[in-house]
Amino acid sequence: MRKLSNLAMVCWGSVAMLAFSGASFAEEVPVTANVTNGKNIFENGKGDAVPACQTCHGEKAMGIDAMGTPRLANVGYVYIVKQLTNFAEDKRTDLTLQQMNGIAKGLSAQDMRDLAAYENSFPRDPELSDLKDLKTNGTVIGEAYKGQILVRYGVEGKVSACQSCHGFNGRGSDPVYPKIGQQKYVYLVNQLTHWRDGTRANDPMGQMQKIARNLSDEDIHNAATFLSQAADSTEGNGMEIDNKTVLKNIKIVR
Ligand code: HEC
Ligand code: HEC
Repeated sequence: MRKLSNLAMVCWGSVAMLAFSGASFAEEVPVTANVTNGKNIFENGKGDAVPACQTCHGEKAMGIDAMGTPRLANVGYVYIVKQLTNFAEDKRTDLTLQQMNGIAKGLSAQDMRDLAAYENSFPRDPELSDLKDLKTNGTVIGEAYKGQILVRYGVEGKVSACQSCHGFNGRGSDPVYPKIGQQKYVYLVNQLTHWRDGTRANDPMGQMQKIARNLSDEDIHNAATFLSQAADSTEGNGMEIDNKTVLKNIKIVR
């Protein structure tokens, strides 16, 4: 019985399933994840090829603006496995230095699950981008209220509301849509720019590239300004906000 696949069918419909098979859903069930191994790699790395994740993503996996790294904590289990798989297979090569591609190649499929489970086990204890500090250092910051309008309503006839896929305030909608609320500012701006110019092209059915092509630089700065500080709200579709729907169906070992 492919329990996880059935669950995925319910959540996503078969089209999205196809786009994702090859990542985490092609795997045999029952899926187990060992958070102790995940924590160990996160804190200490693995052999020569894999440095400790925390050196670039921060101890609490909250991301570091100065390094352009994203928050990984509670972004979504399936999403993290998918990104690591995409990096390992060079389907995501948006980084000039491509550090993540080399790192992901040093991880086994099981390591990826273990890391994703560990990263989704952090307390909901946000560490937001310091926009004042970024501005002082010359980073262009947008206007939060305009970003909020974009996230809530989109641009009529041009851009779908971000929250229609990513959930209220971008809190994430497990398993396909990652948490983008409280994501790091610099990383958000980078991703939207990369989707727009096509350097990041690992999105299912080109969903994000289509959206980003209709965003101006200002839109990108405004959306990132709002999202990086957005409240972790429970308002909306009533789904849980911890992006653990899928994780609950995975056997966690320690
Ligand atoms: C040398 C620094 C460095 C190290 C070490 C590192 N990362 Fe990264 N990672 C990055 C950068 C930079 C990005 C942003 C890539 C981009 O802008 O596209 C990233 C992106 C990611 C993403 C994509 C997240 C998303 O929201 O799409 C994942 C997942 C990830 N890293 C996981 C890991 C894991 C797991 C480890 C440890 C095994 C690790 N990283 C170690 C620098 C690092
Ligand atoms: C039609 C659905 C849809 C809409 C609407 C949408 N997104 Fe996305 N977005 C996605 C999907 C799917 C992904 C995951 C791509 C992947 O698997 O690599 C994503 C990923 C992202 C990421 C990368 C997150 C990360 O951790 O790397 C950012 C940033 C983002 N979206 C921002 C936005 C913004 C801002 C808007 C509104 C202007 C928006 N999205 C609207 C579907 C959507």
